[in-house]
Amino acid sequence: MSDDPVAVFYQQHPYPPPPSSLDGYQATWRDPVRRRAEFHLLFPGRAYCEDLDVLIAGCGTSQAVRHAMRWPQGRVVGIDVSAASLQSTRELAHRYNVGNLDIHELPIERVHELESEFDLIVSTGVLHHLADPETGLLALRSVLRHNGAAHLMIYARYGRIGVEMFQQYARLLGIGASRAEIIDLANTLAAIPEDHPIVPLLRSSSDFGHPDALADALLNPRERSYPVPELLAALDATGFSFRRWYRQAPYLPWCGAVAQSPHAVKLQHLSPRNQYAAMELFRGSMVRHSLIAHRGDEDRPHEPFGSRWEQAVPIRLPETVIIEERLPPGAAAVLINRSHSYRDLVLPISNAEKRVVMAIDGRRTVAETLAVSDLPNDRGRALYRRMWWYDQVVFDPNPLPTDC
Ligand SMILES: C[S@@+](CC[C@H](N)C(=O)[O-])C[C@H]1O[C@@H](n2cnc3c(N)ncnc32)[C@H](O)[C@@H]1O
Repeated sequence: MSDDPVAVFYQQHPYPPPPSSLDGYQATWRDPVRRRAEFHLLFPGRAYCEDLDVLIAGCGTSQAVRHAMRWPQGRVVGIDVSAASLQSTRELAHRYNVGNLDIHELPIERVHELESEFDLIVSTGVLHHLADPETGLLALRSVLRHNGAAHLMIYARYGRIGVEMFQQYARLLGIGASRAEIIDLANTLAAIPEDHPIVPLLRSSSDFGHPDALADALLNPRERSYPVPELLAALDATGFSFRRWYRQAPYLPWCGAVAQSPHAVKLQHLSPRNQYAAMELFRGSMVRHSLIAHRGDEDRPHEPFGSRWEQAVPIRLPETVIIEERLPPGAAAVLINRSHSYRDLVLPISNAEKRVVMAIDGRRTVAETLAVSDLPNDRGRALYRRMWWYDQVVFDPNPLPTDC
């Protein structure tokens, strides 16, 4: 085993705490519409296919098994530096009879040793623990296939200030990660003043309830966090091209309460990158950035509202719901995405717009859904644009031939 302090740490504290069951997860991802929605989010402009080579880089205890269940026609490879986490992965794969998964004890920095390329690379909660995250990004990009996609999650800076304060506090006191020290830490957290910046995180995160998860959050030997501009600069420096935030509405000045504020117009005139940076500062409590990046040498960057947009098939994202109670004045319904943590990310729609939304069934094209209502074309386009901003829909660029 590597003597890197992060590897030693995750050997002692495998993360996340291994799940007792993946039955619910497996059942959820049997839904073909969910898989299509995920595919078109990751690979906009590509025709649907499930025959993917997937790398889970820093897979922890269960993520590689989850993705092998998610893409049963694909081939999934999980790598990690923690043998204990890989053992848990192996046990889960055996229990669920998952046959499309290979795992290797291998650091991201040496991923080229697999001698493989991947359509999809998922690395969540890992790169910010590396001695040099940019070396990790370069290594991942080198095994990403042309037209492939990377789904990366990296700690955000400002929303984690309370955590960083407590990490510094633990370092000052020389607190290690033994069971007894973790229990003392948990009990000390119970005495923390209620206006400490860590308190909202303690309330909203299940992570603090389990000793290994508490250690992961507060006693990790090495981690860094990124404000938006530093994160985008790291992608630029390693040849990745930023495509979108995995859930984008919180980063967009067209969405939520800020769009009605006196600064709306100023914000909307900024460049997209400055909008994201401003929205991170405005929202103040983002704890992680989850994004999709491509290799940066694609054939054609995809524009969802290009010339063929009416022939595309809209697919609603799985966490979206239509609410028809306690509506704002004039609205026939509101659309929300339950994965958003910000309560202002609510999209009101009219009766005519509601008919369009109800017509989205994963088969009809945009044009066919617009035909069910009397919305003029420009209002139909505006509706779809708003649904796109608010993480309500993705588009299958039907009827392209399959890419597989
Ligand atoms: C916070 S956990 C995240 C696990 C998983 N990605 C998930 O989201 O459930 C971080 C994982 O990254 C692994 N890790 C840390 N440094 C690594 C490296 N250089 N190469 C590969 N894995 C690494 C750790 O062993 C640990 O399992």
